[in-house]
Amino acid sequence: METVTENETASLTIQDFTPKGYGLAVWPREAPLPALKVEIAHTVRGDRIVAAMRKKMRGVRKGRLLEILQPAACRVPAVCAHAQVCGGCCWQQMSYAAQLAEKQKRVCDTFANDALVKPIIGAEKIFGYRNKMEFTFSENRGGMRYLGLMIAQAEPYVFNVEECHLASPWFTSVLHAVKKWWEDTAVCAYHPHRDVGALRYLTLREAVRTGQKMAILNVSGNPEYALTRSQLDLLVQAVQGAVGKEISLFLRIHQTKKGKPTQFFEMHLCGPDHIVEELHLSGGPLAFKISPISFFQPNTWQAEKLYDTALSMLQPFQPQRIFDLYCGTGTLSMAASRFAKEVVGIELSPEAVLDAKENAQRNQIRNCNFHQGDVGKVLTSLMKESSFVRPDAVIVDPPRAGLDALAIEHLKTLSPKVILYVSCNPLTQAENVQQLQAFGYDVKCLQPVDQFPHTYHIENIALLVRRS
Ligand SMILES: C[S@@+](CC[C@H](N)C(=O)[O-])C[C@H]1O[C@@H](n2cnc3c(N)ncnc32)[C@H](O)[C@@H]1O
Repeated sequence: METVTENETASLTIQDFTPKGYGLAVWPREAPLPALKVEIAHTVRGDRIVAAMRKKMRGVRKGRLLEILQPAACRVPAVCAHAQVCGGCCWQQMSYAAQLAEKQKRVCDTFANDALVKPIIGAEKIFGYRNKMEFTFSENRGGMRYLGLMIAQAEPYVFNVEECHLASPWFTSVLHAVKKWWEDTAVCAYHPHRDVGALRYLTLREAVRTGQKMAILNVSGNPEYALTRSQLDLLVQAVQGAVGKEISLFLRIHQTKKGKPTQFFEMHLCGPDHIVEELHLSGGPLAFKISPISFFQPNTWQAEKLYDTALSMLQPFQPQRIFDLYCGTGTLSMAASRFAKEVVGIELSPEAVLDAKENAQRNQIRNCNFHQGDVGKVLTSLMKESSFVRPDAVIVDPPRAGLDALAIEHLKTLSPKVILYVSCNPLTQAENVQQLQAFGYDVKCLQPVDQFPHTYHIENIALLVRRS
């Protein structure tokens, strides 16, 4: 019996969090109606609240927070004006200490092991830490235009962002300038289901250690909706007017065809064609060229702690030959090259590999080699070479989906003494770690690092050592 009147209200206590960090309550209805689990954004465990019930969507009953009757002890005032709407920061109303405790608990629960999990490394800078943000263009049937972030519990609906405290203030200056430029044109937002319209999303990046800025306007590749030269000239004027002429500005075209992988083309509109970030690591600073689409850890300050911590776990094994799989622009490879004889990096993105090679030169590092391609496939061909030498340590830092079957199989064959697994998704990491344990590895230590204050995201390092 699931009958619920839309907007029916109830007093509830938030008992837990959903995996995405929303508050979770049990709504005990009058018999014979069964109790229902309800997910309510912008609440924290321990809050006593009044919520209005909403329709069940994708199997989840959602509620809207109406009133806080009794705040949880860890509740703090949110800094941002959008905190009650935004799907970006779901934990801004929770003290930072409570956020860290929750993340620590999640890693312990995921690995079903408290003893191996070291205390999470928190951030000093809990606002203004993001070096990259993506803002979506959206338009409703009435022609109202939105440029901003997704509404909590209502993705893919977007609200207009007036302020965002996760990145430097110039991000909102460019955001406002681009919104104003859009309002002065007849260009439409891209509609993914109908494949109509032009504007998809706006990416803003900053090299926080050098202050260099980059903006990328992502558009549809459908020629019917191509932007005109004069529209692009006005865009350049708007962006430069907001933050100065030194900003690097790109147009990124997404060419989609049914049944085929999306192709991307970049058009450089003004300013430098890349930015340079520095990482101040314990072995000394390193500089990194970042192209518009190359991966770089989104929190530079915490990336420094992540890399220093990860490599300090590897160093006691004195590895001479290290493989850095999913190496991006070669950040970990180059940091590890300071104590290893040779580092081999493998990365799918051709642009990131070009950056990695250039970065090695920039930092006068000669003992790093980079290969472009899928980790599994590149390893298959490297291992066939007669000159192939197995590594004594392997670093893996895969995307959220974790390691695929071929990559796992190759790790078994390579059988390095140590595997250092850096992950932005402890769930897939825990599954992969279990597979590696079956190949004879022991988990020696788990080290969570908070890269994303006010969100539920967790970065976690696992150190695995071969039993014999
Ligand atoms: C989480 S990032 C880590 C990058 C790097 N270790 C760092 O800290 O900057 C994951 C990287 O894996 C790359 N990637 C994704 N799938 C891949 C695959 N199948 N084979 C190789 N690299 C892949 C992505 O392009 C991205 O650069």
